[in-house]
Amino acid sequence: MTLLTIPGMVDPHVHLRGLDWSHKATFASETAAALAGGYWAVLDMPNTPPPTIDRPALARKLAALGEEAVCDWGVYFGASQADNTAEFAAVSGTVCGLKIYNNATTGTLLVEDQALRERIYAAWPAGRVIAVHAEGETIPRILELVRRTGKHTHFCHVSTAEEIGYLRAARAEGLPISIGVTPHHLYLTEDDLPRLGGFGWMKPELKTRMDVEALWAAVADGLVDVIESDHAPHTVAEKTAPQPAFGVPGLETTLPLLGLAVHEGRLSEARLVELVALNPQRIFGLHPPEGTYTRVDLADSFVIIPANLRTAPGWSPFAGMRVYGRVREVWIRGRLVFDGTQVLAEPGSGRNLFGGEGAAG
Ligand code: NCD
Ligand code: ZN
Ligand code: ZN
Repeated sequence: MTLLTIPGMVDPHVHLRGLDWSHKATFASETAAALAGGYWAVLDMPNTPPPTIDRPALARKLAALGEEAVCDWGVYFGASQADNTAEFAAVSGTVCGLKIYNNATTGTLLVEDQALRERIYAAWPAGRVIAVHAEGETIPRILELVRRTGKHTHFCHVSTAEEIGYLRAARAEGLPISIGVTPHHLYLTEDDLPRLGGFGWMKPELKTRMDVEALWAAVADGLVDVIESDHAPHTVAEKTAPQPAFGVPGLETTLPLLGLAVHEGRLSEARLVELVALNPQRIFGLHPPEGTYTRVDLADSFVIIPANLRTAPGWSPFAGMRVYGRVREVWIRGRLVFDGTQVLAEPGSGRNLFGGEGAAG
């Protein structure tokens, strides 16, 4: 048995729930799922109620994560439809970045007005990431702002060949961008929808076989910087309702799905380590503390069984798939926090990596 050691895995795109959505999942349950998935740290999105768009909501989230989290973490501040740029200076020191929702999805943070987007870009301090939900023709609109301001922008969950085309050109132009792709857009297509029903509903939606091929090519050739789960748990009742909620859990399935790609010869081990650790660390300016790493057995294959997952709603769109890569150990600051079976870290041992105690620069 040869174990691969990965230094400080980071998922820069999760929706942990908790607070007013604790019926779906909690910071305790989902940070435990993160450790079981091999992660050192997760960066939490701002669309969960109460949305992280003002100082009281941010303070509430930081306090709850501080009490409950078993892995390290950061949180995004959210840009809001009602201009909240006046808050930016006060909050930017304690968050990992700013999230702008430029197309409709879960929550109420949609910003469609280009003039407001311009004010947001102007107001957010340089040096902290701007992450965008931008689909299709919205991407060139955002690239205009990147070109004008030079502010680093992370394009979340890129899902089509068209989007890859825009971003390939932007990379060639030298714009300061980074690109994330999710496992569900790599492994599922719209052809899976009849089988998955609401469990295959997410934003961006599942796409065509041709789109999936463009994504894999961009993962293999280095255009894609990060594999991000977009972990977004909803209850089974919410996913089987007439109008299913958008989003799927992914923290515990990302690494073994990439292990499958290594097994199939689509990805090198070195590239896997870049996608789940080195690149997200670089983009967000993180340095794993000494004694922070994950040991995974990429040769160990298993079938994804929802009952074995820690994420609270206990389902997966990948149920039944044979994957490769069992997490054996997760270490944070020299402490074994997951031993392959049990989470050993106590609630509140996770740290905010952005600002305050334990800041990682
Ligand atoms: C996310 C959620 O439920 O919070 N849903 C999703 O389908 N990805 C929101 C989002 O990232 O767009
Ligand atoms: Zn999104
Ligand atoms: Zn998301």
